[in-house]
Amino acid sequence: MARLLDGRKNDKEIQEEISLRPKRLSEYVGQEDLKSNFKVFIGAALHRDESLDHILLYGPPGLGKTTLANIIANEMGANIHIVNGPSIEKTGDLASILTSLEPGDVLFIDEIHRIPRIVEEVLYSAMEDFKLSIIISKESGAKELNLQLPPFTLIGATTRAGDLSSPLRARFGITEKLQYYTVEEISKIVKRTASVYSTEIDDDASLEIAKRSRGTPRIANRLFRRVRDFANYEGKDIISLNNAKTALKALKVDDIGLDDVDIRYLKTLIERFNGGPVGLEVLSNTIGEEAMNLEDVYEPYLLQIGFIDRTSRGRVATELAYKHLKITHQNKLF
Ligand SMILES: Nc1ncnc2c1ncn2[C@@H]1O[C@H](COP(=O)(O)OP(=O)(O)O)[C@@H](O)[C@H]1O
Ligand SMILES: [Mg+2]
Repeated sequence: MARLLDGRKNDKEIQEEISLRPKRLSEYVGQEDLKSNFKVFIGAALHRDESLDHILLYGPPGLGKTTLANIIANEMGANIHIVNGPSIEKTGDLASILTSLEPGDVLFIDEIHRIPRIVEEVLYSAMEDFKLSIIISKESGAKELNLQLPPFTLIGATTRAGDLSSPLRARFGITEKLQYYTVEEISKIVKRTASVYSTEIDDDASLEIAKRSRGTPRIANRLFRRVRDFANYEGKDIISLNNAKTALKALKVDDIGLDDVDIRYLKTLIERFNGGPVGLEVLSNTIGEEAMNLEDVYEPYLLQIGFIDRTSRGRVATELAYKHLKITHQNKLF
């Protein structure tokens, strides 16, 4: 089965995501507090004819960080330059990006926690006073290069705000956390996606997809595409609740959106380790999933729905997890 929760995307999906991205803040569903903050920040910056303060967006994958960065640039009427943290390997890479910026441009660095520390240090002065200073080593010796940059807005996105060094974090004037979406909000997103694909979907079908999307638009869109396959295979143009149920069953997504990795995670925690506490590395080795993938993708949602707790001694399963898996445990006191 195509991994519904995988952070990695194939080319087709990247293209589809781009076409599905809302362009305006008013089309961006949910995240109401964040949206009303940005309305003020953007309106004020436009009024002063200034560029926006640097922005850090963080939260689990698929919640709309990249989408929001593009919307912010669009609302500011600014050009956006998009780079991936891991692709900036040397200070020279960053220098060539920074020197290509025009006044008011937005520089979006995705996965900003993955840029090397030495490159990060060049960012400090670029962010603080739009100065670029790097050391270039030549045969004749090291030379310092100092350049004044135009005012620009850096938007950083990360799934791991905690991995950012504190000097870097301190240089963002605006830091916003993206929240998981409600079922109603996801259902709205599914309807919007359906209309982008010129497909009709019944209300109860979009609600069913929404209930099983872990509050995550990317997952909702992935589920929608598979559900649509099932409907189209039957020669139907309107997606029904029945199509949604059959497809989700075939995809092994359970009634609250947990997939086989979540289930293995919880069962291992409960059955092998008596509900914990157990360290992430041990869990990761036992179930054969990368620790980072578990930590960034799976655990945030299990924590959100109260199925696990993170303690100083490791992960523990809560009573809700036992109940969901219908496992009773005499020795366990909750
Ligand atoms: N608030 C939203 N309203 C509508 N669609 C959204 C919203 N947030 C995300 N999406 C959709 O979900 C998909 C994933 O969003 P993306 O911005 O790539 O997430 P992230 O960068 O946080 O991993 C995109 O195709 C986008 O269209
Ligand atoms: Mg992204």
